[in-house]
Amino acid sequence: MNEKGKTLLAETLKREKEGALLAASDPYRLKFHLMPKAGWMNDPNGLCQFKGVYHVFYQYSPLDAKGGMKAWGHQTTRDFIHWEHEPAPLFPDRDFDRSGVYSGSAFIHDDRMYLFYTGNVKLDGDYDYINNGREANTILVESGDGHRFSDKELLMTRKDYPDDYTCHIRDPKVWEEDGRFYMIQGGRKTGDTGAALIFGSQDLRHWTFEKELKTDGYFGYMWECPDYFELDGEKVLSFSPQGLGSERYRFQNVYQSGHVVLQKSPVDFTEDDRVDESTFEEWDHGFDFYAPQTFLDEKGRRILIGWAGVPDADYDNEPTVERGWQHALTLPRVLHVKNGKMIQIPVEELEELRDEAFKINAGEKKRLDRETFEMAIRPETGKEFQTVFECGCEKIVIEYTKDCVFRLQISEEAGRGRKLREIRVDELRSLRIFMDTSLIEIYVNDGENVFTSRFYFPRRDRTVCVEGADRIKGWYLSEMEGN
Ligand code: FRU
Repeated sequence: MNEKGKTLLAETLKREKEGALLAASDPYRLKFHLMPKAGWMNDPNGLCQFKGVYHVFYQYSPLDAKGGMKAWGHQTTRDFIHWEHEPAPLFPDRDFDRSGVYSGSAFIHDDRMYLFYTGNVKLDGDYDYINNGREANTILVESGDGHRFSDKELLMTRKDYPDDYTCHIRDPKVWEEDGRFYMIQGGRKTGDTGAALIFGSQDLRHWTFEKELKTDGYFGYMWECPDYFELDGEKVLSFSPQGLGSERYRFQNVYQSGHVVLQKSPVDFTEDDRVDESTFEEWDHGFDFYAPQTFLDEKGRRILIGWAGVPDADYDNEPTVERGWQHALTLPRVLHVKNGKMIQIPVEELEELRDEAFKINAGEKKRLDRETFEMAIRPETGKEFQTVFECGCEKIVIEYTKDCVFRLQISEEAGRGRKLREIRVDELRSLRIFMDTSLIEIYVNDGENVFTSRFYFPRRDRTVCVEGADRIKGWYLSEMEGN
């Protein structure tokens, strides 16, 4: 890290200390979701397991809870329960990343960790920052231990990208296939269509543009944070398109994140091949989800973590901004494709958080002794279903209707603009609910659909009432350590 980086790190450490003081009196501080020590957090970055240790890097603006300068934050764990806050490793301290150390990924090779990211540069002047005035440099940093990082190496600049793209190219993710390395990046083509770019390399340092992945018709003006992986025999492309119109049961947030199934690996794509957008499924239907990334752990699990937030939303998180921080990451979720459906299940390690179990009968309004808990519910087959969490006059309502609509509704004050999210589901078979102080994750039908949302209850006490269920189990959850 150069002098500029060291100054930013010192300022960050100071803010983090101040943040720790505020934390004690903060009712919205999360107990089992990763959140920033101070300031703003967005996309998960550089997810990997390296020499036994899980590394979660993320977009981090430690100096301002409303965002601004983008650095990388860093937390590590061996078990998803005990976490260590590492010093922020990357700051915008070089000319080629001076306006932000943007998103990127980790690639583990020959016992080394390679971090690839986008160095964002906004030139001073009268520019539109789409077609001009912006640089998106591809940068590499290496590590032998996951804690000390090499100098930044500039790998690619504008001249390495195809001409028919705007300045918006970013978020590299790397994989290996048949002894060669490939990198996918998200982009906005001239004419405002989203696409992904594929680069190839023999040595992880010299990259050449090879091809692009695009749809036949318009499917958003920009694709952010692309990811490619094989899972249970399927070839999966994940990306976060911007610019899709909202529909009643789809695309209800301002920007989307989802996955499509590819007929062949991007490596084998020819000029004539297209991404079939009709297979696009959203990862999450809640109010707060965007820019997920996946990685393969040493047990062979494909794990996804998303940003439990969304940019440019018309709802807010003022209650945490007032306490000096904003946003969080989702629980780590193991992915599988089963019967042609993508399913997401929180890593089983989280069962260690289960403390005391609690009992509750259908139709009974129960006062909850703690704010953080997990519930597993088996709804009655073919019936209407409802779960209501209440705190004073505020409510979170989860329901399944006669006409097969699954809904999440949040009341006025608690939602801060978050009102209704709904999808169609043929039948409701199971629900698993993870309730943190100000974040809820709802897993529908064994993880076939997920809803992630922030909410702000005015007080700590809450009740729950479940109607239309055969079986309800609950566990109070203890706090992760070191978050
Ligand atoms: C997605 C994103 C990425 C970018 C980063 C900047 O949320 O816009 O495309 O690299 O955030 O923080």
